[in-house]
Amino acid sequence: MMKLHGEIIAQSNGDVWTSAPVPETNSLAKVAAAAKECTACPLYKKATQTVFGEGPKHATMLMIGEQPGDYEDVAGKPFVGPAGKILDRALEEAGINRDEVYVTNAVKHFKWEPRGKRRIHQKPSSRDIAACRPWLEAELRLVEPKLVVCLGSTAGQTVFGPSFRVTKERGKVLSSRFAPKVVATVHPSSLLRQPDEESREREYKRFVADLRVAVKAAEAK
Ligand code: URA
Repeated sequence: MMKLHGEIIAQSNGDVWTSAPVPETNSLAKVAAAAKECTACPLYKKATQTVFGEGPKHATMLMIGEQPGDYEDVAGKPFVGPAGKILDRALEEAGINRDEVYVTNAVKHFKWEPRGKRRIHQKPSSRDIAACRPWLEAELRLVEPKLVVCLGSTAGQTVFGPSFRVTKERGKVLSSRFAPKVVATVHPSSLLRQPDEESREREYKRFVADLRVAVKAAEAK
């Protein structure tokens, strides 16, 4: 974990990273409202808005993605774009009701660069992730899920540290200080990047199988 708390990292171009100012409260709504004003890292400058997590306050299952994409940035809601559509389909197939899951991201602002008229996703840096981490920690503390699902390597590394490899650990029931049970799997957007229909179908099935592991683990004692 990066030691950002209490430190301010500044670059000569004026970009500043500090630690997200989470209010001391047990109200998730108040934390979400404070996150709307967050300027702890430079990403807020180009993003439309903060995309905070969504779902029931005491959800059994909490899912962590990487960061909002283009659609989420506009809608202000996590996983509503193409990756979200795949996630919805896979959740249904695995027998998970999305309305009962708290869905969030490791980073709450969309990081992008322009390419022509398009906004192209950029991977968040470890500084961006560390600056945003207090929001995620607050969500985990307040929701107190029985099980966390890490969607992709950014989420996995945010929970387990930089040496975590989703390819090695996917589909296993792990444990962390954030939740008694954690299951990691690939990010649904990786399914969109498969080179052909056959591999897309194969990887989609593996994704659903990982989610089924999560359901079983969440139901077990
Ligand atoms: N990808 C993510 O990691 N999160 C979203 O909310 C959307 C796409």
